[in-house]
Amino acid sequence: MARLLGAILLLAGLAGARETVVFDTDSGLFGDDGASLVMLLRSPAQVSIAAITVVPGNVWSDQGAEYLFHILDLLKRPTLVYTGAQTPLLHTPAMAREEQRRWGPIAYSGAFAENPQAALVPAPGAKLTRRQPHGGGVERLIGEIERHPGAITILALGPLTNIALALRLQPDIETKIKQIVLMGGNVRSNGNASPSAEFNFWFDAEAARLVLRSRIPKKILFDLDVCNRAPLRKAQFDEIVAAGTPITDLYREDYGRRYPGFLEHPNAVVSLWDVLPTAWLLDPAFVTRSETRYLDVQTSWGRFYGATVPLDRRQAPLATPVTLMLDIDYPRVYKLYRALLTQ
Ligand code: RIB
Ligand code: CA
Repeated sequence: MARLLGAILLLAGLAGARETVVFDTDSGLFGDDGASLVMLLRSPAQVSIAAITVVPGNVWSDQGAEYLFHILDLLKRPTLVYTGAQTPLLHTPAMAREEQRRWGPIAYSGAFAENPQAALVPAPGAKLTRRQPHGGGVERLIGEIERHPGAITILALGPLTNIALALRLQPDIETKIKQIVLMGGNVRSNGNASPSAEFNFWFDAEAARLVLRSRIPKKILFDLDVCNRAPLRKAQFDEIVAAGTPITDLYREDYGRRYPGFLEHPNAVVSLWDVLPTAWLLDPAFVTRSETRYLDVQTSWGRFYGATVPLDRRQAPLATPVTLMLDIDYPRVYKLYRALLTQ
């Protein structure tokens, strides 16, 4: 009897721990966004994905949706994909070009380097999926939060445009969100887009500021500093690629031939950026140190556009703080990543 009760309590505990997630992504061909999607879809006991919403970032939204459909096809998951915003709130390719001219190189500008009107390209070696994303990603996000007040986790793996628009369209959802878990910003280290800003915050600095100033009850932030503690090198790439599955073949194509190009540049290093917030949903204990901070984003257009800065709380007295992740048990998170990718 006691054993049966124990089993029931354990199951109830596990059921309670299952997160319902809106997966908001700027996925390119695969990369860290694609790996994150595979990790969650292969963890149905811990996470249920209520919706996949696409935001411009690494690529423009329709191209991102095409790449996501390809990954979903490889996984045999005919899941719907919703595009949301088509552009950042304010930032444009022309501004980025001018930033570069005035203040020096932008190391990575994502979709800004591509023509938004260009025809869709299929994943290498594949045909176009011919699947159409649904529009209305922002409304879908709002709808999920309203249908499940206090229960939705937003996993935000790209610029925060969709989330910011949702908060502006329907302000009372702010406190109905369970939590936002995100990758973005750089509190202590240099940026990876401009020298002062991380890519997701730089691409849509206004949206990032709006989200950091919001009242979302819990904000879990993996910034560049902590992501720099999760480097992926050629030896690990080889280990994953050796699995020889359709997913790891796509991984080989992206990380091997594109960015960071391990096949031609064996000394390259890339960080497991979006993988960290994703892994946190599956195994939060891999984080070994964190702190609570009130953070903001610099939105004055200039050398520091998109930089992460302390929040002046008099300007946003209702803003909730961020739990900023500081250190991790990297072997533990890499083991999880490898296990789920090579399944
Ligand atoms: O700065 C890293 C972020 O930019 C990650 O989300 C990565 O996917 C790229 O979009
Ligand atoms: Ca991303």
